[in-house]
Amino acid sequence: MNGHIENREQRLQSLIEAHEREFPTSPSVGVRSPGRVDLMGSHTDYNEGFVLTLTIDRDTWIVASPSNEDTITLRSLNLDSTCSFALGDTEVLDGWGRYVQAVAMTLSGAGYPIRGFHGVVHSTIPISSGLSSSAALEAAVATLFEQLGDFTLDKLEKASLCQQAENEIVGVNCGILDQYSSVFGEQGKAVVLDCRSLSHKATAIPSDLRPVICNTCAPRKLTGSEYGERREQCEKGAAYFNALDSNLKTLRDVSPGIFADHEANLPHLVAMRSKFIIQENARVAELAGALEENDRSRIRTIMAASFIGARDLFEIGVPAMQSMFDSMSSAPGCVGCRQAGAGFGGCMIALVESNKTSDFIDQVKDTYERETGIHADVYPIRSSAGSGVLPTFR
Ligand code: GLA
Repeated sequence: MNGHIENREQRLQSLIEAHEREFPTSPSVGVRSPGRVDLMGSHTDYNEGFVLTLTIDRDTWIVASPSNEDTITLRSLNLDSTCSFALGDTEVLDGWGRYVQAVAMTLSGAGYPIRGFHGVVHSTIPISSGLSSSAALEAAVATLFEQLGDFTLDKLEKASLCQQAENEIVGVNCGILDQYSSVFGEQGKAVVLDCRSLSHKATAIPSDLRPVICNTCAPRKLTGSEYGERREQCEKGAAYFNALDSNLKTLRDVSPGIFADHEANLPHLVAMRSKFIIQENARVAELAGALEENDRSRIRTIMAASFIGARDLFEIGVPAMQSMFDSMSSAPGCVGCRQAGAGFGGCMIALVESNKTSDFIDQVKDTYERETGIHADVYPIRSSAGSGVLPTFR
């Protein structure tokens, strides 16, 4: 079973049947956790900045039953593979199972009663495409442990523990955006996340605009060091300003005016990265305001400026993203579009006039394929609630 399944009953039935086939019992617990798409705020999270994020109706489901041994066995229907480990194991698994193990180890390290289980997982979030499939798996696993161990994590603690699992055990130095979004997402709303206070304000997307994911489906040519390099360059920028004035703790505190006065003193790359973050942070409030007023020309301008800054200053663009941006911008009904996630390929996002969504999708696919030879995955989404228990298991 792969990819997106429209029918929730059918999806749940497939998971339950797989559980009954693989394990001796029926599942007693079922949880879900969504992916996210950022409408604005690329790489601002680890700079204590702002992100306008939307939790999407592509999600990860796990059904499970407690096991009497201290082992965890989880079967993935997407990957047709099983991960298995004992709770006391200190050697971390390779592959997707390490996300599960990382959450088990982190929650257990924080003193929560972690129980062994047998389970089956299925996700409709494409893997490695910038929609937070890893964070959704982590948050689903944490939610599952809450159910099995009969404890409730404070939501912020849940997001932070999942981030800690990813930082310390999986070894990816990500910010809080993905895990926070997956845990806190609000149905029917986008969220302005403040990555310093770790709080958010929900904001509406005009009802006549539809978010559409445009997956470039281009092979990602990352060496793995790009994300860490960008982070270091931002930290160098912040350190420069902090040495000038200790109130300037991160790039979030640096105004465009102060930045302009000192730009020439910074190493070239540090200046480019810092400039992008300072501008991108401001664009979050600007876009939230433009959406509130449904001011289409501002929405278009702000989103385009983010794409151009990400390409020219932060340098996280690749040719496929340019082709996708051009295809999206010229397609019928496109109000605004930009990159999503960490960049370097993966998914992009457009806000489209609702009544032109299918024309938009057809044209983007055609133009992009003509240009790149790649068949893109393009689909509308709706915002969904954050992690929780599947209704059947409540
Ligand atoms: C990845 C990381 C996030 C965030 C984005 C870029 O998704 O996991 O923490 O930094 O990139 O905004």
